[in-house]
Amino acid sequence: MKKIIVANWKMNPDTPREARRLFLKVKRAASRLRRTSVVICPPAVFLPLLRPGRNLALGAQDIFTELRGVYTGSISAAQIKYAGADYVILGHSERRQLGETDELINRKVRLALKTGLKVILCVGETTRDDRGDYLPILRGMLELDLERVTRAAVRNLIITYEPVWAIGGAASSADTPESFLENSLFIRKVLAARFGQNLAMLVPVLYGGSVTPDNAAAFLTSGEASGLLVGHESLRADHFNSILRFADASHHDSRLANNRSIVKK
Ligand code: PGA
Repeated sequence: MKKIIVANWKMNPDTPREARRLFLKVKRAASRLRRTSVVICPPAVFLPLLRPGRNLALGAQDIFTELRGVYTGSISAAQIKYAGADYVILGHSERRQLGETDELINRKVRLALKTGLKVILCVGETTRDDRGDYLPILRGMLELDLERVTRAAVRNLIITYEPVWAIGGAASSADTPESFLENSLFIRKVLAARFGQNLAMLVPVLYGGSVTPDNAAAFLTSGEASGLLVGHESLRADHFNSILRFADASHHDSRLANNRSIVKK
């Protein structure tokens, strides 16, 4: 399976000119990739200005819970799609902190999938404890956010494990590849219980939270991540492009096969 590297530009940059310049630098690098897909998620206003390319798709950072109606300031899933996005990030911790509940996220997830968008669903605990008390929190998020999602829609689902405490820092603030691997196996178990073993294995599980060129390769190799979600480092084309090159060079299909048997247990 191709690695997926998602750029979450958040509320950056300020101008269309800067957005275009950053995008074009990444587009050039993406066109040379062989085993990696890139998804750039700019602020929605920039979507129509940017053209997807080889190995490069566009995503939005949010949609509204309704498809049409009198909702001042909101943007619908259909509008996002017509603006050029194939993906949408949902359940990001920065939106959860603004008050988005799992119920609301679930509505958005189902609406996005129905509209034909691929969903990048973010889950992650706010604080980490040594006893693993955060694992039921992860399970709860996944179960609620994916309620009534059909088996047919699972192919359009990507999960990002993004511990909230790891977001926004240097490489040393990130989770470790070993702990990511354990947590991603846990996530697959929850998905397997919900959708069955075979479908669960098809869902890419990405890591997000202080990904930099210094730690990207470790998450993709020893962490066996299906990909990465990159925040602040995606605003620096040189750093982001070197993360893309690491992704393209990493390969570990045989070890993924080993984990399949662990998930089965
Ligand atoms: P970060 O952000 O890479 O700056 O930690 C990741 C995210 O919140 O999407």
